[in-house]
Amino acid sequence: MAAPPALIPQPAELTPGQGVLRIHAGTPLRVAVGDSDAAHTARYFSELVARTRGIELAERSGGSALRAITLKRQPGLAAEAYRLTVTPRGATITASTDAGLFYGAVTLWQLLPPGHGAVDIPTLRIVDAPAYPWRGLMLDSARHLQSPQFIRRMIDWMAWHKLNVLHWHLTDDQGWRLEIRKYPRLCTVGAWRVPAALRPLTGDDTLGDRYGGCYTQGEVREIVAFAATRHVTIVPEIEMPGHAQAAIAAYPALGSLDGSPPPVSAKWGVHTYLYNLEPATFTFLEDVLSEVIELFPGRYVHIGGDEAVKDQWRAAATVQARARVLGISDADALQDYFTQHIGQFLAAHGRRLVGWDEILRPELAADAIVMSWRGTTGAHAAAVAGNDTVLTPWPTLYLDNRQSGLSSEPPGRTRIVSLEQVYRFELRDPSLNAEQQRHLLGVQGNLWTEHIRTEQRLEWMALPRAAAIAELGWSLPARRQWPDFVGRLAAFIPRYHALGIHAADSVFAIDARITESASGVEVVFANQAGSGDIRYTTDGREPTVASHHYTNPFTVPPGTQIRAAAFAAGTQISATWSRNLQQQPLARRSSRELELCSDGVGLLLEPPGAATDTSTILALDIMNPCWIYRHADLTGGAHLSAAAVPLPFNFELGAQERMIRRGDAHTPAGELEIRIDGCDSSPVATIPLPLVSAAATLPAVALAPIPGRHDLCLRFARPSLEPMWALDWVEVGE
Ligand code: ACM
Repeated sequence: MAAPPALIPQPAELTPGQGVLRIHAGTPLRVAVGDSDAAHTARYFSELVARTRGIELAERSGGSALRAITLKRQPGLAAEAYRLTVTPRGATITASTDAGLFYGAVTLWQLLPPGHGAVDIPTLRIVDAPAYPWRGLMLDSARHLQSPQFIRRMIDWMAWHKLNVLHWHLTDDQGWRLEIRKYPRLCTVGAWRVPAALRPLTGDDTLGDRYGGCYTQGEVREIVAFAATRHVTIVPEIEMPGHAQAAIAAYPALGSLDGSPPPVSAKWGVHTYLYNLEPATFTFLEDVLSEVIELFPGRYVHIGGDEAVKDQWRAAATVQARARVLGISDADALQDYFTQHIGQFLAAHGRRLVGWDEILRPELAADAIVMSWRGTTGAHAAAVAGNDTVLTPWPTLYLDNRQSGLSSEPPGRTRIVSLEQVYRFELRDPSLNAEQQRHLLGVQGNLWTEHIRTEQRLEWMALPRAAAIAELGWSLPARRQWPDFVGRLAAFIPRYHALGIHAADSVFAIDARITESASGVEVVFANQAGSGDIRYTTDGREPTVASHHYTNPFTVPPGTQIRAAAFAAGTQISATWSRNLQQQPLARRSSRELELCSDGVGLLLEPPGAATDTSTILALDIMNPCWIYRHADLTGGAHLSAAAVPLPFNFELGAQERMIRRGDAHTPAGELEIRIDGCDSSPVATIPLPLVSAAATLPAVALAPIPGRHDLCLRFARPSLEPMWALDWVEVGE
């Protein structure tokens, strides 16, 4: 019996058949004579089969269909639709379009489990087409950039999930990333920033190597051509009128304010630099867009439009003079003028404007596409107004949020957006009528990269949540069931492994709760999926599918080395979790094991220059540096020791900066304040911070006896925002 198919995304209709079809080295792979596009898809399919199954199929034009795989055209099927029939006598993919053939081939490939050699696949009939035409991911290459090789690899794995739009965020305050031949300074100046470093006491903040780079037009052409072979459309984003600081750093005349040009920003957050509205600036933008249009053949050009704080426009005499000439008195109406001007330019060149939901205003052109990011209200309003729209709402589809509370998560935002939350996102808006619902083009996940500085981490943040997004965009609601998806994903993990993809294991990863009890150390295991097969060892060996099967909490002697992992169908699907209770006392908790006191801007951050393992990651709310250590036993008194790490304060928060809690520092560098049972009382102890900005273990303090267990509140009071001290760990012992 062949295993039930683990397809992602789930097809529209799947009817199981009787028996199996054997696929082996030399199985004929046929396309019609002269159909070179089908032959390309056949080639792609056979390369995938070779990679994950280690067998070479025999590609040919024509020949007998018996026990062959056949790619066949049939007029009349919808764009992207296909049929796949597998019988013991052969497999046939039928479609009208190249994309349909491609998706049929991807589905057939998913029927072959990873492994080596000949394999029996189940007979079945699939009738499939996507629910929505826009199934996207946004990649931010401005905050951190990725190699062209990685972007091609990403496009490949997108295609394996039938994702078809890569929205490429190419410009922002922290870097301009696209070569524009007419304006070379965009790349020689606008692409380079000096990363924030800890400021030495001399106040010299020009230290540090430059970070940056641009994609050459040659590289972009290669990426675009590659994407076309995977049926992925690239939607370039050139931000305007805000998020323009890097461009203004390169060409200061584009800016609104007179005075010295800004640097390319090394800070995160919402910046204030806006393009001005002079004719020369529109000429610049049209020149840039002309080159963009030449590079990207797709129909859509994204012009950003988000977070354009209007302070500079209100303050700038030239902008106000221009506004008077235009007869526009309101700053938001000036942005409407900006959007209309650029929209007309794009329309004249056969392109449709896409923008973030701030562009949705009464004057917006009917063919503009609104990307709903501030929740889903933008999508609703756009559909009612008759504009097409794509759902990509914060926080659920913002993939810079972490996937679990485990210490294996890389830097990002501390808010947890689990795979299940993404999967259960509801696209449908029943309050829209049928005509309005047709404006919902689809769904997109956004990979913002302020805190995602390596490609490996990007893949982790993207997958498998992108698999859930693919299913939201492709599969009909009746075909989407969370427990069923988790089961299919477990079977999909070996495919990621076979392809060398660094998908997150967060949904299956071991979440261990360890407590000391009178009889030893009690261990409780769980995982987000709440299913699967957890196996563990207590003798230091790696867990295997034959190790102890975890069913209930168990107790081991102190000092035991415990290891555990999740398994499915005999394959390990999570990293091995391990803990040696003697090497690391239970009483020591890292900042990620503490609770944050508040949820202002919660981030997982690293010190500058940190290695890329996860050991130096710190959890903090930059609005309030405060953590809770729960249930410390203070009956006999205790000693508290802590380690602190200084971080550069590289955030642009505007008026919000005043809301950051600094506290009342009583020593020159500030101190760590310790309170009991709440954060409002007077401190029971304070520990001064060192004058030198360097990671430090702070002097231990004694806490007086109080019967029972208590929550400790640990908060920094500091004279300035720089450096931004973060707790590394806290230990409460005797
Ligand atoms: C956005 O997150 N500023 C679109």
